[in-house]
Amino acid sequence: MKKIFLLLALTMAVRATADTPLYLDPTADLEARVEDALSRMTFNEKVAMCHAQSKFSAPGVARLGIPDLWMSDGPHGVRAEISWDSWKYAGHTNDSVTAFPALTALAATWNPALAEEYGEALAEEALYRGKDVILGPGVNIYRTPLNGRNFEYMGEDPFLAGEMVVPYIKGMQRNGVAACVKHFALNNQEKWRDHIDVRLSDRALREIYLPAFRRAVIDGGAWSVMGAYNKVRGQHACHNEMLINNILKGEWGFDGVVITDWGGAHDTREAALNGLDLEMGTFTNGLTSESAFTTDDYYLADPYKKLLRSGEVAPSTLDDKVRRLLRLNFRTAMRRDKPFGSLCSEKHYDVAERVSNEAIVLLKNDTLASGTTLLPLDPGQGRRILVVGENATRNLMKGGGSSELKPKDIVTPLDGLRDIYSDNIRFTQGYASGRPMYGHSETIAESVTDSLRHIAVDMAREADVVIFVGGLNKNHGQDCEGGDREEYGLPFGQPELIEALAEVNPNLIVTLLSGNAVGMEWADKVPAILQAWYLGSMAGNSIGSVISGSVNPSGKLPFSFPVNLEDNSAHHFGQLSYPGDSITQDYADDILVGYRWHDTKGIPARYPFGYGMSYTTFRLDATPANVTMSGNDKTEIKVKVTNTGKRAGSDTLQLYVAPDPANTSLERPVKELKAFRKVWLEPGATTEVTFAVTPDMFACYDPDSNGFVAFPGQYEILIGTSSTNFPISETISYRQ
Ligand code: BGC
Repeated sequence: MKKIFLLLALTMAVRATADTPLYLDPTADLEARVEDALSRMTFNEKVAMCHAQSKFSAPGVARLGIPDLWMSDGPHGVRAEISWDSWKYAGHTNDSVTAFPALTALAATWNPALAEEYGEALAEEALYRGKDVILGPGVNIYRTPLNGRNFEYMGEDPFLAGEMVVPYIKGMQRNGVAACVKHFALNNQEKWRDHIDVRLSDRALREIYLPAFRRAVIDGGAWSVMGAYNKVRGQHACHNEMLINNILKGEWGFDGVVITDWGGAHDTREAALNGLDLEMGTFTNGLTSESAFTTDDYYLADPYKKLLRSGEVAPSTLDDKVRRLLRLNFRTAMRRDKPFGSLCSEKHYDVAERVSNEAIVLLKNDTLASGTTLLPLDPGQGRRILVVGENATRNLMKGGGSSELKPKDIVTPLDGLRDIYSDNIRFTQGYASGRPMYGHSETIAESVTDSLRHIAVDMAREADVVIFVGGLNKNHGQDCEGGDREEYGLPFGQPELIEALAEVNPNLIVTLLSGNAVGMEWADKVPAILQAWYLGSMAGNSIGSVISGSVNPSGKLPFSFPVNLEDNSAHHFGQLSYPGDSITQDYADDILVGYRWHDTKGIPARYPFGYGMSYTTFRLDATPANVTMSGNDKTEIKVKVTNTGKRAGSDTLQLYVAPDPANTSLERPVKELKAFRKVWLEPGATTEVTFAVTPDMFACYDPDSNGFVAFPGQYEILIGTSSTNFPISETISYRQ
């Protein structure tokens, strides 16, 4: 009897398989499925796939049961639902999400394992919300502290960004949600972002601006990439022959989909020929604003059909795009073994909180006259604490542009501090910034600023400790898409406020929330400073935990904090370097970006790249490496790390390579980050970290040979806990 049932079941299964078209068979080879689906599609169905049907979806093939592709911003959570054919929010009530910390914060953890958890948790929220593609992460390099979108990126160093982006993508794509790595490439400022033409050397392109994208594609296996708005060497990035055809799809072998930034397509022929696969967000009435919503006028819609029909562009261009789109669809929307996902789960809040715990950077913690430090601030002592500053209560998920979120829950810094210090807390706003608005900002009357400051100063006199929570916010002209910051200093009268508070109360802790470095002329007057980014849903818990000491700070800066704006490389070379002359821009700082600039030119940053303090102390001891290396040999450096303080905590060991200038006539930065490892240790405990030193760590891009070359000679290996502090240094002599 059993046998008969088994036979019946098997026959049914075989029959079902036999009837199922190949492209619908999840067990069949991906490429075979793609070819099968392609062979069944009409000309019109193929072209329709290459452009949007709504603000955030592109059509599948209804007749063949191939679903639409649904996209969402990105990159810190799943954005609230947008209307089908306008930028208005759809007004749904089931689209509230977990807000994860901004990508600068993630980068500040220097913890790739957390990046993977972040990607996975975000993908679970995307699945529950029915999204196939998350528009993120962003890995544009932090070139100037004025860029309004730096908070969405992973800092100034291509190696750090590369190490963090790969696990984010893997975590996300594991469950059938595509990452869309953006903005490819050189969208390093918001000012004139839709047309500025970036000119730069091959070396700057290859050594600084492309490596994180390359890692995302080659090691992360990203399924989609978003083109940038700007031009690169005269051609818009979304259909740029060099970037997309030659490098991304040619050299790197990318088999996924190139998606425009929303409204980033400008020419049908270029889009057809230069590797753009999916056009999104184009405006439809002469392409500057919206009239009736139709996508027929998109560059990759009717105008593309015309070019194809007339034979001006080959049908193979269309088939290539559709193959890629089908591949993406099979990897995501049509994947049958996807989990259903979940929204706002305990696990997601836990991931968000662990990222924000590890992201906060302790910049300063002076020893006071009493012989102790202000931080950590023991909750047991019943001190009267005054919290000052709008950012202590402001919803920093609102504004900022496309990455804004509708979080289900947020713990504000004030909530977090109240949880710990309860009745001992008083709060006053201190300054006002106005509402978050896109494209313009509100002016706050001087009288309002003055009176808020006076109230705060009066209250500060009465307090034992003042915790100032300020920084930037997501208003236009701050950390916000579509424009750059206009000043390096803190806005809204905060410098005056901080100085006035410091004058009446020396026990002042400044907590800055921002995605950018800011001027800190007041830093010497303040004993304790924390950099706390945009930390998402659990911000207040983490800020409270770090201030009270239940979490030992372990974040490290993913970018330098210059003393003055002119100390930054992009600004040093004047207007043509940043922001450009409105038409072109010349990256005169070349390969010397961030700490590469500060250290090579001897212009110290106020807080350097890789820097961050702890409530404990660490000692590093190394076993010397081989002193010679040749060919493809590798050598190992073993470092013993000991927690020499009284609290458990983490530190990040950073390995930099400093080439001897005699090795090549090419200019080299004095040192570059090539490896790092974060370790967690109980007080008194020791662990050993092994760094493998490989010849590719010595290489630079050699324009003569169009590739990376490790020139023979001496290389110093510097190991420490920031980009300016190296207890360990070994010299290696390299022969090719
Ligand atoms: C942004 C992208 C974003 C897209 C969709 C654009 O303005 O530059 O990063 O993904 O809008 O919202």
